[in-house]
Amino acid sequence: MSEVWNKVYKSDIAFFGEEPSNFALLCFNHMKTNNVTRLLELGAGHGRDTTFFASNGIEVDALDYSIIAVELLDKIAKKKRLPIKTQIFDVKNPLPFPDSFFNAVYSHMLINMKFSYNELHFIFSEIRRVLKPKGLNFFSVRNHHDKLYGKGKEVGRGIYDIKGFEIRFFTEKEIRDLASEAGFETLWIREEYEEPVTLYLVSTRKSIS
Ligand SMILES: C[S@@+](CC[C@H](N)C(=O)[O-])C[C@H]1O[C@@H](n2cnc3c(N)ncnc32)[C@H](O)[C@@H]1O
Repeated sequence: MSEVWNKVYKSDIAFFGEEPSNFALLCFNHMKTNNVTRLLELGAGHGRDTTFFASNGIEVDALDYSIIAVELLDKIAKKKRLPIKTQIFDVKNPLPFPDSFFNAVYSHMLINMKFSYNELHFIFSEIRRVLKPKGLNFFSVRNHHDKLYGKGKEVGRGIYDIKGFEIRFFTEKEIRDLASEAGFETLWIREEYEEPVTLYLVSTRKSIS
């Protein structure tokens, strides 16, 4: 499926724009108050948010399974001399970092990709493993208020093919359950429209036990 995304980034090297997302701006405020210095970004794409975090003094490890996205991000990071390390990586595999390595993990519109619930539990357990105690996990997902929810062909339980993109649409309860089952406390959930999608923006913290 990385082919779908390679095609997207080949046809438009700044598909998501060059400015950081509102979610990144919001999370950055929370990162500052929590003294986040090392961040892991999953599904970073061509790095509109990665470069924003790194330009503001955070060291970022950025992962994406699209080789085209990672090459684009590498080029920008080198040109701007930013503290970004990239890897072409599929998050269905164990994360290539030791335990308790990052202050925070961030992903914007990755968790709503075509993952089964088993895969989601695995991804969250890996995020939990690489986070320091009380580390933060920020993520955003498309939700049931999205205008495309229920449209397109259902290709897995709760996952729809929307013009070639396979997407899960979450309820607030599903997010809270997923987080708590994986050992995270939900700090806040906000709804936001980011043209053309409706998202839940979520902040969670690694629970102690
Ligand atoms: C909706 S895009 C968002 C990109 C970026 N976060 C942004 O907001 O600009 C989702 C990204 O997740 C990546 N992705 C999807 N499934 C993945 C997987 N299993 N492992 C790693 N990256 C994945 C895609 O290549 C794509 O870059």
